[in-house]
Amino acid sequence: MHFIVTGGTGYLGGIMALHLHDLGHRVSIIDNFSNSTPFALERLKEATGDTCGARLFFKECDVCHRQELISAFTSFNNDEKVDGVFHFAGLKSVNESIEYPDRYRHNNVLGTLNVTDALMAIECDKLIFSSSATVYKEKTTGPLNEEDPVGPINVYGETKLASEYHLEELCSRNKELSVAILRYFNPVGADSTGFYGECPNGVPNNLMPYVFDVAIGKREKVSVFGDNYNTKDGTGIRDYIHVEDLASGHLLAFYYLKKNKGAHTFNLGTEQGYSVLDMINAVKEETGKPVPFVISERRNGDLGCVTASTDKANKLLSWKPKKTLKDMIASQWLWHQHLHETKGEH
Ligand code: WQD
Repeated sequence: MHFIVTGGTGYLGGIMALHLHDLGHRVSIIDNFSNSTPFALERLKEATGDTCGARLFFKECDVCHRQELISAFTSFNNDEKVDGVFHFAGLKSVNESIEYPDRYRHNNVLGTLNVTDALMAIECDKLIFSSSATVYKEKTTGPLNEEDPVGPINVYGETKLASEYHLEELCSRNKELSVAILRYFNPVGADSTGFYGECPNGVPNNLMPYVFDVAIGKREKVSVFGDNYNTKDGTGIRDYIHVEDLASGHLLAFYYLKKNKGAHTFNLGTEQGYSVLDMINAVKEETGKPVPFVISERRNGDLGCVTASTDKANKLLSWKPKKTLKDMIASQWLWHQHLHETKGEH
């Protein structure tokens, strides 16, 4: 089949492109490199062996530029009918969204509006949308399920929720449309060969790329944002999920949409929470490297404990995460070393 992947040179988008290509599907990537680099596209071509563009295609395009996006979708669709669109393109840093609210609303909400316009223009009726656990209202007892109240406390979460409302409303008006809204918890890890992974521009906002930068000696120490949360060791607990488990969940969601019209929301997590100190210790154990850290103030917009209930995805998508914490750490460490060795060239 033929899929468009927006944000396909990014972290999750690139892993999804690899997953689809490995299964023999044609992958047409849209990206503007705002949070990646052309180096990522070269890596995808190397990783897939598709240097001549047999089943891997790319157009540089900003999802905020509606007409360009419609032209790109139309061009891909004219080559080969598009079976589905995976929409990953979006800005994703919680604390950055608080600092640059307009940029986030523009890119994440307008971008999603333009993607659905382009979807309609090529008469494609299946969209898988990258949403986030940050849409939920804080829950102090137990894992979050899809029926729990929403109530984002940062702009990033607000933009994801606004996009979800748009998609649900669109499905209420267009009965032929099928949309999967996938609420990720904390994506980590890399392609299991260690050949493709996150390549953040500038200082990493997320915990794990920063921890690996310290382990590899690129940065001095980890700042642990607060140790006075109501958790076992006082540091923030998150539901870390391997990006390859996320990718398989996305494709299973597409197959679910082949039989189910309308908008459908699923959590993608592991139901297992790990604290910041758990993650630092896991990296120390896997890499054998010291990972010095210092306890600092809480970060604005952070919650104490965020973990997923995944019953709905287990039952309706027949999806269960398979990767362990060790798989997550080992794959990301392999990738981080590869990136560190080659980054200087790009
Ligand atoms: C994890 C924990 C921090 C950095 C992420 C994504 C967001 C969304 C939800 C998908 C927290 C602590 C972090 C550091 C630290 N995912 N931390 N020192 O904030 O949960 O958000 O998941 O849509 O896109 O960003 O992830 O990795 O930033 O933080 O102590 O240097 O690590 O307080 O407890 P977060 P994160």
